[in-house]
Amino acid sequence: MKENDHVWIDLEEDRKRIKGTTLVELFHDDPNRFNNYSFRLADIVFDFSKNLIDSAVLKNLLKLAQVSGIVEQKNALFSGQRVNFSENKPALHTALRALPNEIIMLEGENIVSKVQKSIERLYSFANSIRDRSRVGNTQKPFTDILHIGAGGSVIGPQMVLKALSSYQHSTIKIHCVSNADSSDLQASLRELNAETTLIVIASKTFTTHETMLNAQSAKDWLIQKLGVGSVARHLVAVSKDINLAKSFGVSEEQIFEMWDWVGGRFSLWSAIGLPISIGIGPENFKRLLDGARIADEHFLGTPPENNLPILMGLIEVWYRSVLKFSSHAIIPYDYRLEGLIAHIQQLEMESNGKSINSRGERTPRSTAGVVWGATGTNAQHSFFQLLHQGTEIIPCDFLVGAVSDEALSGHQETLLANCLAQTRALMIGRDLQETIEQLEPKGLSETAYAQKVAHSTFPGNRPSTTILYHQLNPSTLGILIALYEHKVFVEGVIWNINSFDQCGVELGKEIAQKLLPQLQTGIKDPDLDSSTFGLLNELEKMRKRKDPR
Ligand code: F6P
Repeated sequence: MKENDHVWIDLEEDRKRIKGTTLVELFHDDPNRFNNYSFRLADIVFDFSKNLIDSAVLKNLLKLAQVSGIVEQKNALFSGQRVNFSENKPALHTALRALPNEIIMLEGENIVSKVQKSIERLYSFANSIRDRSRVGNTQKPFTDILHIGAGGSVIGPQMVLKALSSYQHSTIKIHCVSNADSSDLQASLRELNAETTLIVIASKTFTTHETMLNAQSAKDWLIQKLGVGSVARHLVAVSKDINLAKSFGVSEEQIFEMWDWVGGRFSLWSAIGLPISIGIGPENFKRLLDGARIADEHFLGTPPENNLPILMGLIEVWYRSVLKFSSHAIIPYDYRLEGLIAHIQQLEMESNGKSINSRGERTPRSTAGVVWGATGTNAQHSFFQLLHQGTEIIPCDFLVGAVSDEALSGHQETLLANCLAQTRALMIGRDLQETIEQLEPKGLSETAYAQKVAHSTFPGNRPSTTILYHQLNPSTLGILIALYEHKVFVEGVIWNINSFDQCGVELGKEIAQKLLPQLQTGIKDPDLDSSTFGLLNELEKMRKRKDPR
């Protein structure tokens, strides 16, 4: 039996013990529980105390991290070893936020100096848009950036731009488009004037079908409005494939290099962040990188028992693989962090939604669950019912700022009170006795009373982590995003899976490529399953009908 197996057996015992207790009891037994389970990094407090853990669980989880080789693996990550083992590549997103004088060698080259050169070029381009010195084909400054990408090439930049909207340039608007559904592109094009629009095509591979489709349609729109001569000034590309970008018609001076050793969902720190740099300015982009570096240094240099990504990852593993909770909700009580939910969703589900381990065998335990969520207080009026009284237990991360640079009188206090109230309500619940006491004075009939009592109790014991920061700013955001990146890496190490590939997205793409010509020509593959074949037939009939409007 491997050492690993022993720890899993111990954790199974822990599960039985924890099932016999409650969060309220754990708080009762340890009056210092908040201090014992909360941690600080820069201006951020991480309160893990409302999680279903005690010192024995934590001890075993930390042991699991140790026997899984977390220390060696994180060193391998940062030093550029090929941790993306199925694609035989490093995953060096941390090099994008390294200090300029750091040295990270890859194939005989110091990639930090390469990154610095490329980012300086990006900053100078961004500044030329911001100060209006770079103009379009008709000599007008750019007022709108149309950022076209898919997945990690758009989710990250879009999330950061919304989170830092109060830092946004006053006369430049960024529009992000990603969906193959032309309604997405059309909605932006309706608002845009080609003369003042810069189109950024962001694709690591420069082959993603949706991105290239949108890029072609946007280019056609541009040419139709301003003529073919406008392409050189109005098109920009970010890609690792410079030749493909050039053959699409992007002029070489407007192509920004992306690195093969950075995965899409970890790429917002690279040239993929061009719209961020234009939107909030290079100085603020640098602060975002500084924040990520604080998280990197913390992850690399802090002992496991105080190491935030390790603790976050271990708690996730505990919930998924031992307690078998099927999902995890991200609830920012910060409207501007709405995009963080989709970002963490891609990070977690694309990185760790896998069932084959590094030995090519099926993983013996559940790996990543579903990540979802919505902002508070909106979420309280939609799915919180299920969080409080549903049959599933769903651990939640609550994120909230103590102050907001946009707060109107009374709003922030209301937001904070609700956030704290929800985490407390999820934990303490309301038992029968308390419910009876509350309902007794209401003078209900006996049957109404009996009904009401049962429906008004709350089981409680529902876990959450509260992440409390002073104020949302570029540095805080950088820290938060990088911590979640590392959390996902920690889970991957424990589950022994590759967090840096995404083979699971390929099959659907391949089948779509085969179905596309069948839709276009009407010549269908007779070997298709009867459902897909039948639907193609129905589509053919429907598409022959006139526009129903
Ligand atoms: O389909 C998944 C994916 O490969 C993501 O991992 C990636 O972020 C996205 O597509 C976009 O890829 P690209 O930047 O190469 O267009």
